[in-house]
Amino acid sequence: MIQIRPLSRDQSVPMDLLLLADPSKEKVLAYIQSGSCYVAFHEQELIGVYVLSSRSQHTVEIMNVAVKESWQGKGIGKQLVRHAITEAKTAGAHTIEIGTGNSSIHQLALYQKCGFRLTSIDHDFFLKHYDEPIYENGIQCMDMVRLSYVLQAD
Ligand code: COA
Repeated sequence: MIQIRPLSRDQSVPMDLLLLADPSKEKVLAYIQSGSCYVAFHEQELIGVYVLSSRSQHTVEIMNVAVKESWQGKGIGKQLVRHAITEAKTAGAHTIEIGTGNSSIHQLALYQKCGFRLTSIDHDFFLKHYDEPIYENGIQCMDMVRLSYVLQAD
């Protein structure tokens, strides 16, 4: 049984977890300022995180979802994404967006299992915005695949 709740003001940001999803500390620090950070706990252990950020009046974006390595593959990621969907609904959003790399096979599976549909591809995003080459699953991460979940039509 896990509990997901907003990060409280007196808690420090779980940077180690956030960096699992985005290797750029600079970018994480930038979007954590503008977004709301949610954390998942199992008893006293912080095991997951996600950041929800507003993109426009009716659109929010999940900027980062990450689960502590020893807890991965146990359904926590799905619970975090479903929690984000519920939070976005409560906030009156119409659409939730999420972006991931072309090489992030498991993430693409996870988001589609949670109801997200592919919407667009930002070609060369990771080549343009990250200094070091990124490889996952033997594939170079070059393009940002954008997905969205429509809560209600505009
Ligand atoms: N192999 C294959 N598929 C996997 C997988 C693995 N090791 N881990 C997750 N998946 C896929 C499966 O499709 C799974 O669906 P299923 O349960 O119906 O089989 C689905 O993801 C959900 O799995 P879940 O256990 O909820 O995921 P998780 O708790 O491991 O969290 C991540 C998924 C991506 C958040 C987690 O692996 C993580 O933190 N990774 C590093 C950070 C990251 O890449 N974040 C995303 C940035 S876009």
